[in-house]
Parts: sequence; structure tokens; C-alpha cells
Amino acid sequence: MSNKATIQLENQTFEFAIIEGTEQEKAIDISKLRDQTGYITLDNGYKNTGATKSAITFLDGEIGVLKYRGYPIEQLAEKSTFLEVAFLLIYGNLPTQQQLTGFQTEISKHTLVHEDMKKFFDGFPSKSHPMGQLSSLVCSLSSFYPESLNAHPTAEEFDLTIIKLLAKMSTIVSWIYKKSLGHPYIYPQNKYDYVTNFLNMTFGQRTEEVVIDPIIVDAMNVLLILHADHEQNCSTSTVRIVGSSDCNLYASISAGISALWGPLHGGANQAVIEMLEQIKNDGGDVDKWVNKAKSPTDSFRLMGFGHRVYKNFDPRAKIIKKACDDILEKLGINDPVLDIAKKLEEVALNDPYFVSRKLYPNVDFYSGIIYRALGFPTEMFTVLFALGRLPGWIAQWKEMRENKEPIGRPRQVYVGEVDRDFVEIGDR
Ligand code: SDX
Repeated sequence: MSNKATIQLENQTFEFAIIEGTEQEKAIDISKLRDQTGYITLDNGYKNTGATKSAITFLDGEIGVLKYRGYPIEQLAEKSTFLEVAFLLIYGNLPTQQQLTGFQTEISKHTLVHEDMKKFFDGFPSKSHPMGQLSSLVCSLSSFYPESLNAHPTAEEFDLTIIKLLAKMSTIVSWIYKKSLGHPYIYPQNKYDYVTNFLNMTFGQRTEEVVIDPIIVDAMNVLLILHADHEQNCSTSTVRIVGSSDCNLYASISAGISALWGPLHGGANQAVIEMLEQIKNDGGDVDKWVNKAKSPTDSFRLMGFGHRVYKNFDPRAKIIKKACDDILEKLGINDPVLDIAKKLEEVALNDPYFVSRKLYPNVDFYSGIIYRALGFPTEMFTVLFALGRLPGWIAQWKEMRENKEPIGRPRQVYVGEVDRDFVEIGDR
């Protein structure tokens, strides 16, 4: 096969290199297209456009494969822990026991947030959405750690910023939840591992020592692992492009949190539960709602269904669906929306509209049911997605910086007015 692509333009022939990734993905390198031809490409939503070369996560949407640094997501979900996967994504290899112990120890030194951050928590209206709070609070870390503004830190300085962000994110997330209840904050305790510490800060009490159920710790590890990275999705691309301006890590991650908030992206896990509750309260007529989702005149969509890349089952959804049954059974919970979700999936997967468009359940379809069983309120679901995605965002931002990628600045095709002279207001 030729390693060149040719384009015919105005009776001229132009050649462009074809590059192939380690998983045999192929791309036409058009980095010199405009210089050579004067043309640009146009690709709304970047559905056919690669923004970078990355060694972090590989997914094959056609066959439903997802791997972090070459390790299948199924193996990591079954055998690893979230902190081990965070190390893998950020530093490229599974840690040795010494590396993992050191990573956990360093993180445990930085889980406290500056006491002045409480003023920010107190400043939010009581009903403000947790994602808006999270985005603001994470960006405010750049105020407490101004050394993070250095655009060219040493490796040690950058590692410390990473450790601080991973450490403080779990404290910030749990305190957002506590504040929403009007409960006192629970401080981090070094005797706990990362996930247990987060759950203790979230569900622990000042008045008594609460024993965190190992079933919940295991479920939380799996959910956070499954959300940890997903190559160049909307929020990760946001983190990379904001970071490409030499903006600091905290502000770049804050921008990613904002992008994840959207119901078409990470906000879908909240929208799924709201949709399932709506169907339940409407009498559980699944066929009615599937037909609404198919109607071109109805804006209703099956939340948690469809994906830009997966045109087969989202492998994460398969793992979460199985975990749903296991965890609800272990916790002795019978959640009627789980039955509605399964019925919705069955009807949709046998409907030509969904089959022809290759619309399958995605990571958000079942995750909310587990979060709810673990005791989280619906508005916290996307914040939990962000907690899981944090190591992936950090890894992608680090890769962009280490590869010295240029500032992101797409082109456009102008289709507006041309050549108009100014008209005084009295003459308009
Ligand atoms: C995440 O990119 C990532 O990797 C994201 C993510 C990650 O880990 O970072 O995987 C996490 O964001 C998962 C997706 C969560 N969002 C939802 O569940 C919201 C519901 N899904 C859709 O809105 C939609 O499927 C998207 C946004 C996920 C993907 O949209 P695309 O790729 O732009 O596809 P499209 O909107 O052009 O849809 C193609 C067709 C359209 O119909 P036609 O124009 O061909 O007639 O499929 C239809 C759409 O109307 N369609 C749906 C549908 N999703 C697509 N119809 C009904 N219900 C749906 N959910």
C-alpha cells in the first residue's frame, strides 16, 4: 500500500504522507495542506479529524475495545485499583509496589485544602450545581499555589502539582456533597487508601467512626477506573487546547470540568436517571418513550444511548451493567429504574432506528444506578465522572506539554457579509 495520499485540485496533484499508528489506524497528514494548496479542510465536530498522536488510550469503536496504555479495560476493572490506574495513565506503566506506595504517600500529604477555600464553599448559593462549584474550586487552586502558573516547571515541580490536584480533588468533591447537606466537613485521614478516604470524607460522620463497606469501596474503584480516560473526547480536547496556550494545569482542568458538565457528554449520567424517573412516573411505558426518541420532531433523546466513536457496545457499559446487578444484590437494593433501564435497552437494541444508527448504551446509561445505590444524589453523578476522569485529563495535558505541541487554533470558512461601509445610525 502506498504511504502517500494524492489530492487533485485545479488540475494540480498534491501528495500528503499517510501515517499509521501502533494499532494500525491510518491518517493523512495534512499539516502542510494550506501552505501547499491554499485550501483548508472543514469537519464540523471533528468527526474525521485527528488532533494529535497519543500513546495513552486506544479505543476501537467498531468492535468495542478500550485499552489504557495497552491494558484492556476489562482486566484493569477486574484486577486494578483507581490509584494504580491513575499512575499507569500519567506515567505510562503499572507501578511497582514501591512506586505505588510512594504515590499514595505523597498524595496523602496533600489531601488537605487551604482553610480559606471554605469561604468559596460558603459563597455558593445552597442549590448551586456541584459541577459549577467544582469547576470554580479547582480553578481557585491556582490562587493558592501560584507556583503552578509557571509555564515551564521542572519535572519535580510538575509532579508536585499533579499530586496536589489528585489529592485535593477528592477532598473538594466530598466537601461539595457535605456542604449540600449542611453537614460538617470530614477531614482526610492518612490511614485510608485513596478511595476509602474519599468515601469516608463523603459518608463519614463527625459524631462516630463510620465503617466504609468494602463492597462500596470495590464498586467505586471500578467506576473510577472505567471513567479514567477516553482519548480525545470533548472535555479532554478542551483540557489539551486550554493547556496549549501555556495555561496552568488547574485552569485547564477547570475548563475540562465545564465541558464535561454538558448533558451530551458527562452530564448524561444525571440526565439518564432523570429520564428513567420520568418514564417510571409516567407509568413505565418504555415503547412510548422509545418512539419519542425516534421522532424527528421530538427533541427527546434516549440519554445514555449513542456515542460519537462506539458503533458497538461501549465496553464500559457492559462492565457497569454487570456490576449493577452484583452491587444492588449485595446491598439488598431493588431499584425499579434498573428494570426500566434494562427494558429500554432491550426495546431499543431491537428497533431498526437504533440498530441502523448503531446506537448502543454508553458508559452513562447504567452508571447512575450504581452511584444512587452507593448513596450519591443525582446532581453529584457528573462530579464523580470528573473525579474518575482527572488522571486521564492530567495524562493527556502532560503528553501535550511533553510533546511541545503548538497552541491549538483551528481555521474556518467565512460565510458572512463582505465589503460594507459604515452607516451612521440615523441612516440605518
Ligand atoms: C460521553 O466522546 C467520548 O468518548 C465521550 C465519553 C467519554 O468517556 O468521554 O464516552 C462520555 O459523553 C458518552 C455520551 C453521553 N451522552 C449521551 O448519552 C447523550 C445522548 N447521546 C447523544 O446525544 C449522541 O449519541 C452523542 C452526543 C453521544 C453522539 O452524537 P453524534 O456522534 O454527534 O451523533 P449524532 O447526534 O449526529 O446522531 C446520529 C444520529 C442522528 O439521527 P439522524 O440525524 O441520523 O436521523 O443518531 C441519532 C441522531 O438523532 N441519535 C439519537 C441518539 N443519539 C444519536 N437518537 C435518539 N437518542 C439518542 N441518544
